[in-house]
Amino acid sequence: MLQIKNISKQYAVGSVVTKALDNVSLNLRDNEFVAILGPSGSGKTTLLNIIGGLDRYDSGDLVINEISTKKYSDRDWDSYRNHTIGFVFQSYNLIPHQTVLAKVELALTISGISKSERKNVP
Ligand SMILES: Nc1ncnc2c1ncn2[C@@H]1O[C@H](COP(=O)(O)OP(=O)(O)OP(=O)(O)O)[C@@H](O)[C@H]1O
Ligand SMILES: [Mg+2]
Repeated sequence: MLQIKNISKQYAVGSVVTKALDNVSLNLRDNEFVAILGPSGSGKTTLLNIIGGLDRYDSGDLVINEISTKKYSDRDWDSYRNHTIGFVFQSYNLIPHQTVLAKVELALTISGISKSERKNVP
């Protein structure tokens, strides 16, 4: 379902360049539960941000359902984030004045799901 192929990513801050990911490859299958472990600074967040479509790799490829993302446009990434991937942040970024239902509905509203479908509990 998700293939991470030889992905590298580095950050440049001024003249300091940090290699966060160096040729990382792994495959994630449907319904697979995977935990990524590593010491602080080993690149876990960098990898998750790339898998989540929040940040871009420098080289390599992220293959989503057999399709390369090398030529993905901003719209393709938007669609991927809206329809394909879910992301729970370490700090949840919840909206304090909204109910749980309203918060769940918000993502569905952005995805274009009708009000009746949003309220439909299977
Ligand atoms: N925005 C950034 N600008 C510059 N360097 C960064 C940036 N984000 C991460 N880095 C560097 O990239 C490397 C990998 O960081 P990353 O945050 O991915 O590690 P991590 O495994 O998630 O660490 P932690 O367990 O502390 O959350 C570290 O050396 C970090 O300092
Ligand atoms: Mg982290």
